[in-house]
Amino acid sequence: MTANSDFIYINAIRKKPVPYTPIWIMRQAGRYLPEYQKIRSRHSFLTVCKTPELATEVTLQPIRRFGFDAAILFSDILVIPEAMGQTLEFLENHGPKLSPQILSEKNLERLNTDGMTERLSYVKNAINMIRRELASETALIGFSGSPFTLATYMIEGKPTRNFKYIKTMLYREPELLARLLNLLTRTVTDYLRMQIEAGADAIQIFDTWGGILPVHLYNQFSGRFLKQIARDLRDKNIPITLFSKGGPDILQALSDSTAEMLGVDWMTDMQDACRRFGDRFALQGNLDPTALYGSRDIIRKEIGHILNVFRGKSGHVFNLGHGILPDIPVDNVEFLVNEVREQSAKRIVPN
Ligand code: CP3
Repeated sequence: MTANSDFIYINAIRKKPVPYTPIWIMRQAGRYLPEYQKIRSRHSFLTVCKTPELATEVTLQPIRRFGFDAAILFSDILVIPEAMGQTLEFLENHGPKLSPQILSEKNLERLNTDGMTERLSYVKNAINMIRRELASETALIGFSGSPFTLATYMIEGKPTRNFKYIKTMLYREPELLARLLNLLTRTVTDYLRMQIEAGADAIQIFDTWGGILPVHLYNQFSGRFLKQIARDLRDKNIPITLFSKGGPDILQALSDSTAEMLGVDWMTDMQDACRRFGDRFALQGNLDPTALYGSRDIIRKEIGHILNVFRGKSGHVFNLGHGILPDIPVDNVEFLVNEVREQSAKRIVPN
């Protein structure tokens, strides 16, 4: 007999029997929820991240409302650059701003990674508190940005269309970029170790911007660092998901990873991903987030399209192919969760 954990989410990743396909959604805590808006009307985003009681409350909001199979720590990938010494602000309607930009060796040398885990102890405290309050069947996912995605924000300083500064560094001073990526790889590994020790049951690494690299450079500047982090955390024996946005070529580049699950973005065909990577990995995804603007009939059909790929076999975690958008109707999320449960329970083959 195999010893199954209480977590349907983790059993699905480990391809053990599950009663239905587990579901959580990226950015499940956030602005589409009125109860989140209420907290945000009184506290800034960073205050919520840095106050364990508030971070816990906001993490639990979508679990209470929808009963997702996993909670994700409420935080942001950019708390790492802030703890390394950059100033982080979230400007209304403009997104995050980091200053000064990392453009030179001098800027790089000013970054300080000593004592990082102490400066980020509010994350440890939040994880402790969330794990204590979560039901035993709900897994807690810890996370980090990938080294390349973090470097993108640290070098550009703000969201960008053409990634001019990081790509200039890549083509003019590739060793300088490699130094930053190596520094971030060590930092992310220590940070994730801290999250696991505080009580995270699983980890997801968000490589949101890896897909802006030419495919032949992806492994050199992003993929190999993701794989190194996954390898370095193997002794912790908890599932690691690599979510890299950018289509099937990127999944191919990650396919020699020791990670147990690959996140599939909405641009990739799940059937194709399953055929190529489904034997080796569990797969997560990949409903187009904007499908949730659609009618119930369309949402039902799109869910069926994804669930049909797996035909009731374990090894799939339902999710969107990227984060939920702030103006998605809450009712459609509830419909999504119920529909995934119902449709998948019917497909599950008894073992
Ligand atoms: O998934 C969850 O519910 C957990 C929380 C979470 C947030 N950010 C909260 C957040 C997670 C996992 C992230 C990751 C993150 N942050 C990524 C990688 C994943 C992705 O979506 O690609 C990136 C690139 C960031 C950086 C970031 N943070 C941006 C670009 C923005 C502004 C854009 C926006 O949506 O407003 C943020 C802010 C942010 N992070 C919000 C939330 C809930 C909105 C803050 C608010 O105004 O309340």
